Amino acid sequence: MNLSTDHIKRSIQAGWDEMAGNYQAETHISLDDVHYAPLCPGERELRILGDVSGKAVLEVACGAAQNSIALAKMGAHCVGLDISSRQLVVARKLVEQEGVDVGLLNADGETLHMFRDGAFDVVISCFGWEFIQDLETCFRECHRVLAKDGLLIVGTVHPMSAFEWDADGRFLMVNDYFRPPYEVWQELKGDSARQGLTFFRTVEEMFATLVSAGFHVEGIWEPYPYNIEEMTDEEKRAIPYGGPFWESQYERLSKVPFSIVYKARKSD
Ligand SMILES: C[S@@+](CC[C@H](N)C(=O)[O-])C[C@H]1O[C@@H](n2cnc3c(N)ncnc32)[C@H](O)[C@@H]1O
Repeated sequence: MNLSTDHIKRSIQAGWDEMAGNYQAETHISLDDVHYAPLCPGERELRILGDVSGKAVLEVACGAAQNSIALAKMGAHCVGLDISSRQLVVARKLVEQEGVDVGLLNADGETLHMFRDGAFDVVISCFGWEFIQDLETCFRECHRVLAKDGLLIVGTVHPMSAFEWDADGRFLMVNDYFRPPYEVWQELKGDSARQGLTFFRTVEEMFATLVSAGFHVEGIWEPYPYNIEEMTDEEKRAIPYGGPFWESQYERLSKVPFSIVYKARKSD
């Protein structure tokens, strides 16, 4: 595919404006816990972030800002930023509904020029980094806006989730782990102006990009899903990131990780 960086970004933005309604309707996202992965425990159980009370948090690619809202309830001062104005329409509604103070900004998360150096204690995104083409530039910007010893939480798609399953859903068909494919959004295919991409990166690439941007990686999580077969409907509704679509994927999610989370600290 021969598309310019700018074209890709505009396509991803247009794609998310188009998909916002469906995404919010099909995925149940908690407003009380930070989600990291489908059908998996969130922050209250995993304790990746730890105590956030009083901390200044930037959520990049916040979507409808559910993570910022949950963090605000835990005592953080949050700003959520997203490139899609439609996602932010939902975010504004939820922020008002929950009665929390979360700043929202319609902007590109690749360059954070609107924020001063050292403005935040934490930068977080779950399911946003895979839409950012120049991750090195983005991580350098995160490093700049973080205060000394600040935390960067990178929740993203696992490279294994780039691959298709066989027809019976028994085997993952990994043809080339070292060069994971780009995902061209199926639902938008045919309209080249709206052809969004998801970028999958190997664990080594992510780790190396974080280190070269000045971070020390303190931990990596491949969250394992709850056993939804033993859960009541009420318990399932309390899962931080779930809903019928993800429940229909349970078998696969319990065999191969869908998400990976890197906890990185500003080290210089
Ligand atoms: C899968 S959604 C995740 C939203 C939210 N983090 C969540 O977990 O529900 C991906 C989000 O990334 C946003 N996004 C994609 N590229 C972006 C960019 N360059 N800057 C800011 N947001 C971006 C999209 O608009 C979309 O809201």
